Amino acid sequence: MASSRTASMRAYWEERARLNAAFYVDTSLDYDAPDMERFLETGRVVVGLALDDAPATPAQTRTAVEIGCGLGRICRALSERFDTVIGYDISAEMLQQAKAVVEGRQVDLRLTDGASLPGLDDGAADLVVTFTVFQHIPDLDVIRSYIAEAGRVLAPGGVFAFQWNNTPGSRRWRARRAVMAAVQRLGRGDRYGRDQPEFLGSRVPLPVIDAALADAGLVRVGLRDPDQLFTWAWATRA
Ligand SMILES: C[S@@+](CC[C@H](N)C(=O)[O-])C[C@H]1O[C@@H](n2cnc3c(N)ncnc32)[C@H](O)[C@@H]1O
Repeated sequence: MASSRTASMRAYWEERARLNAAFYVDTSLDYDAPDMERFLETGRVVVGLALDDAPATPAQTRTAVEIGCGLGRICRALSERFDTVIGYDISAEMLQQAKAVVEGRQVDLRLTDGASLPGLDDGAADLVVTFTVFQHIPDLDVIRSYIAEAGRVLAPGGVFAFQWNNTPGSRRWRARRAVMAAVQRLGRGDRYGRDQPEFLGSRVPLPVIDAALADAGLVRVGLRDPDQLFTWAWATRA
């Protein structure tokens, strides 16, 4: 499935990484003067959301995997809790810049085709985590593919902790995207390019997520903040 379906995502994120990687990883930062200390600290905050007071925690802390690691702030924080961390990203430029963020830590940065976790053995991961990535993926089948991969690579006792866009109202969402696309055609789009399909991504209803988890041999064991842009779920082996 990869390459033809993910080529536009790769092109978009390669360009964003060259323009201003930190800002596009976290658009709450100041574009011209991103506060990198705060940026790194938020990596710890996200790992805390995924693991502390969570409905499920991994039985072992050998290997953590992040889908869409960007500049590596979450990988860096995970390396404080796991023996080894593997961060996958679709953008080679993001990964290049991430090297400095994770320097000296047990973090392996890998390029993905945009829909799978190449080079990772079945049952090799105690945790698979993803944050602010699925929400940017416009193609539902790509999200399904990553959920299937999480099911494949999780070890017994492992946990898949993930955030996605669960905002309700698919008609409203499609209408909003159509308006944004029209505005962009008129040359009046968002100056930072956040009105493009590769940033707007998709919203996914919970039953669709649950069906993809079941297909992957996983079962949802927890949900936080449903119907939100930042909805989290936790899944383990069925
Ligand atoms: C908003 S950033 C978040 C990065 C990281 N998760 C964080 O929160 O620090 C989104 C990242 O996902 C990556 N990405 C986008 N589509 C992807 C895909 N299909 N597969 C893997 N990575 C992807 C982008 O290159 C970018 O680095």
